[in-house]
Amino acid sequence: ATIFVLNGPNLNLLGTREPDIYGSDTLDDIAGQLEDRARTLDLDIDMRQSNHEGHLVDWLHEAQARKAKAVLLNAGAFTHTSVALHDAIKGIVTPVIEVHLSNPHTRESFRHVSLVGQVAKGTIAGFGTLSYILALEAAARF
Ligand code: DQA
Repeated sequence: ATIFVLNGPNLNLLGTREPDIYGSDTLDDIAGQLEDRARTLDLDIDMRQSNHEGHLVDWLHEAQARKAKAVLLNAGAFTHTSVALHDAIKGIVTPVIEVHLSNPHTRESFRHVSLVGQVAKGTIAGFGTLSYILALEAAARF
């Protein structure tokens, strides 16, 4: 079974982007760790990143069309703004797990609302790279 791992805006900058908040792992480092763990769970990872909201919408639809077992979604700042992502998650039956490196609730008030979290199966936030691994562990049990 395949797990889609979809990453939104600015996550291509991981490694150098505000490392005190997001850690020093790059997105490739995270992909490598996910692939290592996925192998032991007999799962395949399809990891993608885009700075464009519509790409993320299309990929959510594709996850369902390809019968992905689950989607791990770090929508970045679109988490807090995107009705389109909210509707896309609602519109597919594929379970979506919201993932964040940081814990948005401990940060600026504009990060306290998640339009993704309102329709996700669950949320894992605040554990850096480990947030992705924990989300994969959850998805493996679906
Ligand atoms: C983030 C949290 C968001 O608020 C922020 O806009 C990001 C990263 C996280 O992984 O902690 O881009 O999704």
